[in-house]
Amino acid sequence: MSQWIAACQTDDIEPEDVVPFQHEGVDYAIYRSPDDDFYATAGHCTHERMLLCDGLVMDNTIECPKHNGRFDYTTGRAAGAPVLVDLRTYPVRIEDGTVFIEIG
Ligand code: FES
Repeated sequence: MSQWIAACQTDDIEPEDVVPFQHEGVDYAIYRSPDDDFYATAGHCTHERMLLCDGLVMDNTIECPKHNGRFDYTTGRAAGAPVLVDLRTYPVRIEDGTVFIEIG
């Protein structure tokens, strides 16, 4: 069953940045795009499970800090080797300055 979870405040994330969020032992990554839109993905890289919140955000891309694999964090799509499996993404909604993600 899916549920909406408060992940952070919008002010907690600078534009073109990512922050970690953990819920019930599961890691998520929450992004703010250069256009001030918010996105959420699984917290670990699909290559060797490095935490993506330690990576570099460039436009709509997250670059993994371990082997520099890249994903489009708006779609989860892997950009190519070494990452070959897309990231899971989660719906996001903003309410009164709070970022909610739908998990389940
Ligand atoms: S662990 Fe992310 S690219 Fe290898």
